[in-house]
Amino acid sequence: MNGVLYDVMIALGERKVLGALRRELLAPLWGEILEVGAGTGADFPYYGEQAHVIALEPDRAMAVRAQPRAQRCAATIDLCIADDTTLAQFAAASMDAVVFPLVLCSLPEPAATLMQARRILKASGTLVLLEHVRSDGMLGRIQDALTPAWRAVAGGCHLNRATRQLVHAAGFDTSALRTHRLPRLFLIRDLLFGYAYPAWEPA
Ligand SMILES: C[S@@+](CC[C@H](N)C(=O)[O-])C[C@H]1O[C@@H](n2cnc3c(N)ncnc32)[C@H](O)[C@@H]1O
Repeated sequence: MNGVLYDVMIALGERKVLGALRRELLAPLWGEILEVGAGTGADFPYYGEQAHVIALEPDRAMAVRAQPRAQRCAATIDLCIADDTTLAQFAAASMDAVVFPLVLCSLPEPAATLMQARRILKASGTLVLLEHVRSDGMLGRIQDALTPAWRAVAGGCHLNRATRQLVHAAGFDTSALRTHRLPRLFLIRDLLFGYAYPAWEPA
């Protein structure tokens, strides 16, 4: 996707909601951090200088816009053209944090990727989420019905991903995750955000 177009589409959401959530989640992080699906680098300005971030982004058109942002921020950021399957190449217990920013909705195999995140996180590590998720009630049923068409036009994005359940099943304590209800947006209404922690070894 064209990175300029993406940034225009998301600009209002950044100003109203996302920017503040990114700051709250990312500023306290330190050490070795893996970010999956960095897009145009919207997260980069919020990391502190104590963070060394390896940022994966498979779409070159998005990464082109992320690269200059990686160079002008406080953290050290290594941007790689790579997708989530790259997690398999990292050593076990090597990361202080793994960050999923608006990306789990688009991954083809989110359960497998979350298991890899669990594997590469240190026992003291943090899984960081900022994700839109399936809503309850009628809206959830509408999201179920529209997801096949939505995926085709929105880069594989699922409107109806049950992300909290997937994170829990991958061996994380999800009790500290919070939700935010977006105002006046029809198809995407609920954000799941916060920290999840390694809790047990998944089978
Ligand atoms: C909705 S954008 C979010 C971008 C950015 N993280 C943000 O918060 O603005 C989703 C991003 O995930 C990337 N993506 C899609 N499939 C992916 C995969 N299998 N592995 C890693 N990233 C992927 C897309 O290229 C896109 O940049």
